[in-house]
Amino acid sequence: MPSALPEGDPAPADGSLPDAALDELGDAPVSLYLHVPFCATRCGYCDFNTYTAAELGSAPGASREAFLRSAREELALGARVLGERPVRTVFVGGGTPTLLAADELVGLLEAARAELPFADDAEVTTECNPESVDEAYLNALVAGGYNRISFGMQSARGHVLRVLERRHTPGRVADVVRWARSAGFGSISLDLIYGTPGESLDDWRASLESALANDPDHVSAYALIVEDGTRLAAQIRRGELLAPVDDDQADKYEIADRVLTGAGLGWYELSNWSRPGHECRHNLAYWHGDPWWGVGPGAHSHVAGVRWWNVKHPRSYASALSDGRSPAAAREVLDAETRRIERVLLESRLIDGLDVDVLTPTERARVADLAVQGLVILARNRLTLTLRGRLLADAVVRELLD
Ligand SMILES: C[S@@+](CC[C@H](N)C(=O)[O-])C[C@H]1O[C@@H](n2cnc3c(N)ncnc32)[C@H](O)[C@@H]1O
Ligand code: SF4
Repeated sequence: MPSALPEGDPAPADGSLPDAALDELGDAPVSLYLHVPFCATRCGYCDFNTYTAAELGSAPGASREAFLRSAREELALGARVLGERPVRTVFVGGGTPTLLAADELVGLLEAARAELPFADDAEVTTECNPESVDEAYLNALVAGGYNRISFGMQSARGHVLRVLERRHTPGRVADVVRWARSAGFGSISLDLIYGTPGESLDDWRASLESALANDPDHVSAYALIVEDGTRLAAQIRRGELLAPVDDDQADKYEIADRVLTGAGLGWYELSNWSRPGHECRHNLAYWHGDPWWGVGPGAHSHVAGVRWWNVKHPRSYASALSDGRSPAAAREVLDAETRRIERVLLESRLIDGLDVDVLTPTERARVADLAVQGLVILARNRLTLTLRGRLLADAVVRELLD
C-alpha cells in the first residue's frame, strides 16, 4: 500500500512559483526526477507509490499510454514554469521504470530533452529491476541517452529474496551487470537491503561479496524499514517473521562499510558508497538542497525553498493534466529556519559534512562534546560524522539542534 501524502498549503492550478523563489533560482540548472508508478507485483516490504496492473484495472487514465502522455504534459508545464535552463541530472525511478518498453523509456527522455535542454555532461539514470530487462533492452537505453543504471539487487541469498518477495534469482544480477557494462553504461549501481528477517551476518557478507564480484561503480545499502501497511509489517505483527533488530542492523552497517571501503568504494553519504567520481550526482543534488522537478504521480519537487508533491494515483494525475491543471496536491513554502534545519539534516549525512557556520552559537557549542564522544570530527570548519556517528546519525543531529 503506498504511504500517505503530507498535508500542505493549496498549490496554484497553473503550477506557478512565487516570485521570490524564481528570483533565488536565477539561471541555476535543475535536476529532473521522473516517477514511473508501475510494478509487476508489489514486494512485501515496499510502500512506494506504485501499482500493479490488477490494482489499476482497465479504467482510462491509468494505462501506460495515459501515464506517458501525462508525463509529457507535466514536462511541458515544468518548462513553462522554470523557463529555458539546463538539466544537470535526470533520474527515472519507480516503481519499475523498466516495465515500460525500452522505446517508451527512451521516449520519456526525448520528451524531457525536447522541453528542457540537457547539459552536455548530464547524468541520466534509470532504476532497473534485474528480472525485467535483457541485453537488447539495455543496449537500447544507452543508445537513447541513459548513462547510469541502478539495479535493485537487494540480496544474493535466495531465502532473503523470498522473504522480500523479490522475483529475480540470485544469479540474475551477474548477467544484467555484464550486459549493462557491454552496453556502455558509464556508471553501474547496485541496491542492497540488510536486516531482512532470517538474514545472518554471513548471508549479508555473502551479498556484499557477490555485489562486489560484479565490479559495480556504486553501491547503496539500506537497512530494511518495516513500513506501516505493508505485508511485511502484517507478517511481523502476526509473529510469522521476526522484526529487524537495531544491533544486528548496526553490525551489518559496519560490515558493509568495511567490505565496501576495502574494495575501493568509499562512503559519501550514509547509505551510499562509490568509486571516486561515481557518486550519484542526482542524489547529491537532493542532499545539497539544489532545485529539482519531480514528474509523475506522487512525485515531490523542490525549488528554492518551495516544496510540492503530486497527487498519488495515476488516474488523478492524468485527469489533472488533461484538464490543463498542475497535478500538485499541495505545497509548502519553507521559512528560513526550516530551511536551515533541513540543511543540517541533509548535509550532515555527507562525507563533505556540514559547514558549522550554518549552526547557531548554542548548537556550535555542542560540537566539541559530540567530538569528544567520538561521534563527529571537525576539520576546516566542517562537521563530519564518524563511523560511530553514522550509526547514530539521527540521534546526533537531534542532540546538535536547538
Ligand atoms: C524504488 S526502489 C527501486 C527500484 C526497483 N523498483 C527495485 O525495487 O529494484 C528503490 C530502492 O529502495 C529500497 N527500498 C524500498 N523499500 C525499502 C524498505 N522498506 N526498506 C529499505 N529499503 C527499501 C530498495 O533497495 C530499492 O531498490
Ligand atoms: S519492485 Fe521496487 S518499487 Fe516495485 S514493489 Fe518492489 S521494491 Fe517497490
